[in-house]
Amino acid sequence: MINLAILASHNGSNLDAINEAIQTNKLDAKISVIISNNNDANVLKKAKELSIDSFVVNQKTASVPDEKIAEILETYQCDCVVLSGYMKKLSTQITESFKIINSHPALLPKYGGSGMYGRFVHEAVIANKESKSGVSIHFVNEHYDEGEIILQKELVLSQDETVESLERKIKELEKQAVVEALEICLK
Ligand code: GRF
Repeated sequence: MINLAILASHNGSNLDAINEAIQTNKLDAKISVIISNNNDANVLKKAKELSIDSFVVNQKTASVPDEKIAEILETYQCDCVVLSGYMKKLSTQITESFKIINSHPALLPKYGGSGMYGRFVHEAVIANKESKSGVSIHFVNEHYDEGEIILQKELVLSQDETVESLERKIKELEKQAVVEALEICLK
């Protein structure tokens, strides 16, 4: 059994997919702790509903937030950390000490890097008239979106694709991709 941590700034959309995979015995894991930098984050409500311990860690709650995060991850003996829309860059203290994976809503190395998140990614994909986009699940290092790719899933854009429709499709694809990536890295 593997202990997982989820770090999220808002919805933590991948939490539901991971939790479902655990409940249906697809993943031999436990979500041990959820950490957010945002005390209004929806993911904290979900943590309560699922009775998962959660913490808010930011400049207001800790003098060095990443040190506090590392302390929590160690206390909960986390084997793997999943970033689900976590908007803060992690220090090397964390990236070098823990196995961390992130879900990026595009086919890296395209549309990655600073400022490329959420709708901005889909806006750029549509503005550039790309014929396909997708999801990349990758390990996290100290550079935005540059860690080793674990897997990618592609989709073909429709003729009348909008930012909203693409975002919806990618979020669905992401749910499968993150579970498959966890299956791969937890083997
Ligand atoms: C995911 O869709 C992923 O692409 C990116 O952040 C999104 C999750 O954010 N890394 P949220 O769960 O909607 O807050």
